[in-house]
Amino acid sequence: MTTVAIISQKGGAGKTTLALHLAAAAVDDGRVALIVDTDPQATASQWAGWRKDEPPEVIDSPPPRLAAKVEQAQAQGAEFIVIDTPPHADSAARAAVEAADLVLIPCRPSAFDLSAIQTTSKLVQLLRKPAFVVFTAGPPNAPRVYQEAGELVESFGTPPCPFQMSDRAAFRHASAEGRTAMELEPDGKAADEVRQLYKWTCRQVDVLAKYQDGKAAA
Ligand SMILES: Nc1ncnc2c1ncn2[C@@H]1O[C@H](COP(=O)(O)OP(=O)(O)OP(=O)(O)O)[C@@H](O)[C@H]1O
Ligand SMILES: [Mg+2]
Repeated sequence: MTTVAIISQKGGAGKTTLALHLAAAAVDDGRVALIVDTDPQATASQWAGWRKDEPPEVIDSPPPRLAAKVEQAQAQGAEFIVIDTPPHADSAARAAVEAADLVLIPCRPSAFDLSAIQTTSKLVQLLRKPAFVVFTAGPPNAPRVYQEAGELVESFGTPPCPFQMSDRAAFRHASAEGRTAMELEPDGKAADEVRQLYKWTCRQVDVLAKYQDGKAAA
């Protein structure tokens, strides 16, 4: 089972959009995927309500109960769990990081947003969890922007993910309709970005698992 925490202290960074799309990509990949919504704003849960019973399922959980919920979901067969978290909530972010194998930090590639992720970077370093910054809602086809933003976040101690979720109307429209970009435009660029991001995430988790096995055997 894979558990991915999506955290960022900054509001509107793209946490929920990333969480929903990663879990939906796992469903498309034939896995039992679940989103645990720890945000009192309940945006992910609202999205699930619009979808009726279509997967991925979204369950809500107050941060103190998160570890137990993740364990329970695992026992019930969940294979890919994504934890969505609220902004400005250190304790919720901390609980999500502790429950996760891998942490993704969505961040818009703009000066103010980049500077604000230092707090989030420090948290994952403190808790010694593998983490990457995922750039969201930035311009498509702007390698220089991502290279510079990547160097900056690297200097804060958190490497950038080589794939982005660019600023695309499909992401805005899909979330607002209880859909995903893959459902809205299966051959679109937004859907491609999500699939790449999902595959990359799975590879990171595999690498981590092998590293941990190696450490256990040593
Ligand atoms: N890649 C993207 N392209 C276009 N719009 C995006 C993208 N990512 C997010 N958005 C839009 O930005 C807004 C904020 O996104 P989202 O709700 O995912 O952020 P959040 O970090 O979960 O916010 P909060 O901190 O309030 O929980 C939404 O309107 C969403 O549709
Ligand atoms: Mg959100």
